[in-house]
Amino acid sequence: MFANFFSPKRSQPTMKYDKENVLGRGFSAQVFSGTFNGKQVAVKRIEKSMGMNLDEAAQKLEEDTMKNLDHPNVLKLLHVQDDDDFKYLILELCIGTIANYVDGTYKGGMPSEIDGMIQMTSGLQYIHSRHFVHRDIKPANVLISSTFVLKISDFGLSRTVTTTSGSFPMTSGPKGTRVYYSPEFLFTEGKTKEEKEQIRVNVSIDVFSLGCLFFNYLTKGGHPFANGGFPNEIFTPANIQRGEKVLDGEKRGLPKNHYAYAMIDGMTEKVPDYRWKLEKVLATLNAEAKRVQTEQTQ
Ligand SMILES: Nc1ncnc2c1ncn2[C@@H]1O[C@H](COP(=O)(O)OP(=O)(O)O)[C@@H](O)[C@H]1O
Ligand SMILES: [Mg+2]
Repeated sequence: MFANFFSPKRSQPTMKYDKENVLGRGFSAQVFSGTFNGKQVAVKRIEKSMGMNLDEAAQKLEEDTMKNLDHPNVLKLLHVQDDDDFKYLILELCIGTIANYVDGTYKGGMPSEIDGMIQMTSGLQYIHSRHFVHRDIKPANVLISSTFVLKISDFGLSRTVTTTSGSFPMTSGPKGTRVYYSPEFLFTEGKTKEEKEQIRVNVSIDVFSLGCLFFNYLTKGGHPFANGGFPNEIFTPANIQRGEKVLDGEKRGLPKNHYAYAMIDGMTEKVPDYRWKLEKVLATLNAEAKRVQTEQTQ
């Protein structure tokens, strides 16, 4: 008669989320705050019924990618749950994004600028070392943890680097901002899905996006391809395609002698083969961190 109390279900992890407490929303997902086994978490709820099996394949990829990754600067996937309508990714709860920090809506703690960039680069380098390409690196996809550690998140567009076929076409429709896309991807817009996939599995596209993100982070809102001002969904992608770059703009720029100037210039190089590699980025940042440290102890 007490069978219910001892049913195995009781001992299984339980997830609850608060529909009123939305942390963010995207194209086919909503992120809520919730609890998992009594612990505070974020719950990314993804709609299953986008009509096509293609979405299912893409969703499976987000989950599979995250299950394969374990790094302090990559958002942790704690658990996955399903029901008829939704898939739920149970994630480590964060308190903001780089986009929130840049626009001033996040006012909490942050690592130093250099340390923040070292963290983002380390996370991305790890993702690449595990043979994944993220493909959607942008300020809204870098989260700030409760202990102020930066975490790369949102693997909804990620792919394995060895993918050679176009077997995972992108969901159609707008997914968000295009101002962090590399020129080689922008050039394929309007081309076939297979052509897009080929371009977007090269890890150098993430380096381009990270370079733009760094500039946005350091200048609090600027963009290398925004003529020295704020990015814009129409002009910025056109400038990226034309290679029209202004890093030393008066309002939202960096002086030419800034330690990150040449680095960001190299990361946002138009030709993928000439673009800086993450190793060089990390070496540059570590050298600067060391220089600052020695200066402070003198
Ligand atoms: N773990 C988390 N903790 C706190 N906020 C989050 C978390 N994950 C996502 N968010 C918020 O929700 C937004 C959308 O989540 P994201 O995974 O990027 O979904 P989408 O694929 O729809 O872009 C993020 O930009 C962020 O503001
Ligand atoms: Mg996102």
